[in-house]
Amino acid sequence: EKAGFDHFMLKEIFEQPEAIENSMRGRALPNEGQVRLGGIREHIDRLRNAKRIIICACGTSWHSGLVGEYLIEEYARIPVEVEYASEFRYRHPILSKDDVVIAISQSGETADTLAAIREAKAKGALVLGICNVVGSSIARETDCGIYTHAGPEIGVASTKAFTAQVTVLVLLALALSQKRTLSDEQTKDIIQDLYQLPKKVQEILNLNEEIFEMAKVFKDARNFLYLGRGFNFPVALEGALKLKEISYIHAEGYPAAEMKHGPIALIDENMPVVFIANKDSSYQKIISNIEEVRSRKGRVIVIASEGDNDIDKLAEFVIHIPDAMMPLMPLLTVIPLQLLAYHIAVLRGCDVDQPRNLAKSVTVE
Ligand code: F6R
Repeated sequence: EKAGFDHFMLKEIFEQPEAIENSMRGRALPNEGQVRLGGIREHIDRLRNAKRIIICACGTSWHSGLVGEYLIEEYARIPVEVEYASEFRYRHPILSKDDVVIAISQSGETADTLAAIREAKAKGALVLGICNVVGSSIARETDCGIYTHAGPEIGVASTKAFTAQVTVLVLLALALSQKRTLSDEQTKDIIQDLYQLPKKVQEILNLNEEIFEMAKVFKDARNFLYLGRGFNFPVALEGALKLKEISYIHAEGYPAAEMKHGPIALIDENMPVVFIANKDSSYQKIISNIEEVRSRKGRVIVIASEGDNDIDKLAEFVIHIPDAMMPLMPLLTVIPLQLLAYHIAVLRGCDVDQPRNLAKSVTVE
C-alpha cells in the first residue's frame, strides 16, 4: 500500500507530479488559452463580479489560501483576504451578497472551516469549496466547488493536497481573469508554464539524496527559521509547519524583510535559516537578507534557481531547482522543504505518518 516507500508521507510527496497533473487535467486548455471549471460554471458571473473574496481555512490549507490571495489579486485584480476559519467564525464577520467566501480543506471535515461556511451562507455570501475528499461535509454544504484531484492523503502532514490546492487556485484565478483582466494569449502563456510543472517537480524529487545529506547535517538543530518573499512567503510558513509537526523542532516562517523587525535577534551559530531565493524581482533584496544572517554566523541553507552558482558561496547548502513564472513558484519551492522536513523527522526517529498529538482531520473546535 505504500508502493515501496517507507512512509505514506514520502509516497505522497513523490505523487505530486501526478497530483498536479490530475488537478489541471481537462480544466486548463493550453491551445485555447482557457480554463473550464464545471463546478463553478453556474456562478461564474457572480464570482467575477465579487467585490471581495475571503478565503477561510486552517493549517496547510490556510497557507495555500495565502498563495491564492496573491494569485487572485495578481491575475484577477479582486481584493482578497485570508482568514483562519476559527477566527473568522467567532468575530461577527462583515459580509454581504457581493462577497465570495472560499473554503479550502483537504478533508472537507474541519470543524472550524465548516462553521465558517455556515456563517458565510447565513449572511448571504456565495460560498465556494476547494476540497480533496469527494462528498465530504464541506463539499456538500458549499454553493459550488472545485475538487482537488490529489487522491487519498494518508500521512497526517499534508503534502500533495497542498500542491493540488495551489494548482486549483491558479486555475480559479485564471477563470476569474478571463474576459476581464487577462487576454486569451496571456492565459495561454500561463497554462503552458503550468503544464511544465509536473516534469519540473519530478526533477526536484530527483534531488532527494542531496536533501537527505543536508538533513543529516541539521537534524539536531533546536530551532529553524524559514524566509521567503512574495509568492514564496507562504511557502516559508509551510516549510516551517512541516518541520515542526513531524520532527518536533521549533520552526518559524517569516517574510524575509520582517527578519530585522525581531527574529534577527535569534540568529547565532546554532540557527539554521532556510532562504527561498529564486531569481525574480526581489532577488537582490533576499541576497542582502542572506548577508545579514551570515554576518551573525547563522547557518544558511538556500533554495535557489538552477544555474545561479554565484549564490553558492553565500551558503552552507544550496538546492538548485528549476524556475517557473513567479506566481507558479510555490508549486516548486515547497517540494525541497517537504523533503527536508521528512528526512530530518525520520533521522530523529519520529513517526512521520502519525505525529504525536495530531489527527488527520480536526473535527473538534
Ligand atoms: C498540516 C496539516 C494541517 C491541516 C489542517 C486543515 O500538515 O495537515 O495543518 O492542513 O488541519 O485540514 P483540512 O485541509 O483537512 O481542512
